[in-house]
Amino acid sequence: MTDEELISLARTAAAKAYAPYSRFQVGCAVESADGEVVTGANMENACYRLGLCAEQSALTAAQHVFGLDRVARIAVSGGTGEAVCTPCGGCRQAILEAAQLSGRDVEILCASGDGSNVERYAISALIPHGFGPANLADAD
Ligand code: THU
Repeated sequence: MTDEELISLARTAAAKAYAPYSRFQVGCAVESADGEVVTGANMENACYRLGLCAEQSALTAAQHVFGLDRVARIAVSGGTGEAVCTPCGGCRQAILEAAQLSGRDVEILCASGDGSNVERYAISALIPHGFGPANLADAD
């Protein structure tokens, strides 16, 4: 799948976000090493702190469809302005979990809501020196 196609799926997912409080719609598409794709969007709640980010929504679907250990590439799209939507700190941690399980430096395409601006990052650049399952491997 091309970058444009993966971003397009993230944008389609963003249109289905439930974000009545922030009005900031985010979509995420997660591609497996075999080219399967699942999507998710942010889902807010009247109890604000219970809101779920698009990336965590999509990663939950990824675990169910092909397994976190098969995650290879992720596209995120959100907002209405020119700025690209980069994963929040919590989502970077969630992506790091998949990256360490899969042994891949997962690539993240960060797009503006209309897809006109895109920045590409590796998870190692977004969360350097992170704490992940690898840190727990020796804990017994
Ligand atoms: N949001 C995401 O879904 N992903 C991110 O990485 C950044 C923020 C959502 C959470 C909330 O519903 C809205 O965007 C505004 O913060």
